[in-house]
Amino acid sequence: MKISTRLQAIADIVPNESKVIDVGCDHALLDIYLSLEKNCECIAADINENALEQAKYNIKRYGVKNIKTVLTDGLNNIEVNDNDIIVISGMGYTTIEHILTTNKTSNTLIISAHNDWDFLRRTVTKLGYKIITEKFVTDKKKHYIIIKFEKGEGKYSDIDLLYGPILKENKDYLNVLYNNTFEIYEKVPDDNINKDIMKKRLLEIQSLIEKL
Ligand SMILES: C[S@@+](CC[C@H](N)C(=O)[O-])C[C@H]1O[C@@H](n2cnc3c(N)ncnc32)[C@H](O)[C@@H]1O
Repeated sequence: MKISTRLQAIADIVPNESKVIDVGCDHALLDIYLSLEKNCECIAADINENALEQAKYNIKRYGVKNIKTVLTDGLNNIEVNDNDIIVISGMGYTTIEHILTTNKTSNTLIISAHNDWDFLRRTVTKLGYKIITEKFVTDKKKHYIIIKFEKGEGKYSDIDLLYGPILKENKDYLNVLYNNTFEIYEKVPDDNINKDIMKKRLLEIQSLIEKL
């Protein structure tokens, strides 16, 4: 089964035969792939009834048996076990934070937020996780970050939390980040207080690139 480059990058870091809870599954394409290609058992959950109806239709169309669908907000009404892999992808940071802080979570989280990855790293590491994998993926000219966290202690500097302990050594990521930050920096008026912060960020990113 063929899925998007972004979903494939997520699927690649899910171990074979895992039990997966996909929060915000939308049309459940990831779950169908994981079930067919990696022999996973999945819970495909979404808050949106129409999305879940499409998920059910797709699951039936592919003839997959080991995916259970749940209409719910986040992890509410889902029994979570330590060994489950929780995937939360394609949402904003605030929604992800809400999902992670209002319920029991498992030992492994795979998260792809739309924004505020620094806040995400801070929040999830404060919840007792360390960062195992960070991926920078480009799919149809859009850029995505995927982070895998596991329960455990990690020591992270401010630079690690801002740019990623692994991504801070990824030249492609740093170049894209530099260009995007520079584009915004140029549009910010000189008397705006954020201008200095952005200049500091640009110098930090430049220094990380030079070290590589
Ligand atoms: C942009 S889609 C991403 C779908 C898929 N995870 C992916 O990465 O392609 C976001 C999905 O998250 C769902 N969603 C948003 N907030 C949610 C919440 N609090 N609980 C469960 N699902 C949620 C939406 O209904 C939507 O189907």
